[in-house]
Order: sequence, then structure tokens, then C-alpha cells
Amino acid sequence: MSQYQIAVVVGSLRKDSFNRKLAGAIAKLAPPDFSFQQVQIGDLPLYNQDDDAGPADSVKRLKREITDSQGVLFVTAEYNRSIPGVLKNAIDHASRPYGQSVWAGKPAGVLGVSVGATGTSMAQQHLRNVLAYLDMPTLGQPEVFLLAKDELFDAAGGIGPASQKFLQKWMDRYAAWVKKHAA
Ligand SMILES: Cc1cc2nc3c(=O)[nH]c(=O)nc-3n(C[C@H](O)[C@H](O)[C@H](O)COP(=O)(O)O)c2cc1C
Repeated sequence: MSQYQIAVVVGSLRKDSFNRKLAGAIAKLAPPDFSFQQVQIGDLPLYNQDDDAGPADSVKRLKREITDSQGVLFVTAEYNRSIPGVLKNAIDHASRPYGQSVWAGKPAGVLGVSVGATGTSMAQQHLRNVLAYLDMPTLGQPEVFLLAKDELFDAAGGIGPASQKFLQKWMDRYAAWVKKHAA
């Protein structure tokens, strides 16, 4: 088993999501002692504080998967210049009940791809604000704002040659960040 398990949270439920594809492609650049598992967030109920005492099985599963990980990777779409509601819903679920957040201390990375020229930069900035409050040490550089275009991915679902060097650098920094901050 890999020494470092990364829980990957994709901020899009779309079947052909560019961000889901990016999450799969970036994992191929990881060192051999890392493994990446995408967590399911589409079946979570809408967060309601009344349910804190009796969370749904999907909420328990999410919290268990984050707890069992050594780091978290957020790969998010940008909706109306912020993070999609489905991602915020998942973050809120795993942050509660009060005092029982599973996010605290987990080293995090943030990536995103969009069809707009700003490449999810505003969504990522909003997300960083949330992660700071949740006490997640989050890799600051390099920032990755990707534009969805044909050559971003290769035919095998990996990162295409034009972005390969830059994203390998990101992965090397992220892996070192996780090793430094993992409990
Ligand atoms: C509700 C909604 C709002 C959007 N707002 C933005 C936006 O603010 N910035 C942007 O670059 N793209 C925006 N888009 C376009 C997304 O970048 C595009 O749908 C992208 O494919 C979403 O990521 P995904 O492929 O991972 O689902 C929006 C799309 C939707 C459906």
C-alpha cells in the first residue's frame, strides 16, 4: 500500500468534467509512494445542522475517507466566480459537528481548469479562504490556473506535452508539501 494516500475532491459532478479528467491525469505524475482516490460527493445530502447528531452514511463515508488520508487535493470548477455549491456542501459536511472537523491539519493542494480565460483563479482564491479557516496547510506555489483546450490531455488521459513540465513541477512541490505536513 502507498505510504501517502491522497483524498481527491473534485468540484464538479458533470460526467465529462474537465476537472475530473485533470484529477486523473495529475495523479499519473505522482511519485510511487503516493496514491490518489477521488471521493464521492454527489450523493451527500444538502448540509443541515439539524442532522449533525445523526449524519447520513454518505457523510460518515466522506469523513472516514478524509480521516484516513495523509493529504487532500481539491480540483475544482469555477461557478459564477466562486466554488460550486456541491464542493462547499462537502466541505461543510466534513467540518462538523463543531470541534469534529476532519480537515484540520491535512495538507492540501488546489487545482482547477475552466473554459474561461481566468482558469478558475477566483474559485481557487475563495477556496483558499475556506481552507485557511479550516486550518489546512495549503500549498501556495505554483498556482495552477488551466484553460480547457484540446491539447491539455494526451490520448491516454495523461497531461499533454505542453503542460507536462509545469504540472510535474507542481506535483513535485505538492508531494514534498504533503510529506512535510502529514501527521
Ligand atoms: C453555473 C455555471 C457557472 C459558471 N461560471 C464560470 C465562471 O465563473 N468562470 C469560468 O471560467 N467558467 C464558468 N463556467 C464554465 C465552466 O468553466 C465550465 O462549465 C467547465 O466545464 C466546468 O468544469 P467541469 O468541466 O469540470 O464541469 C460556469 C459553468 C456553469 C455551469
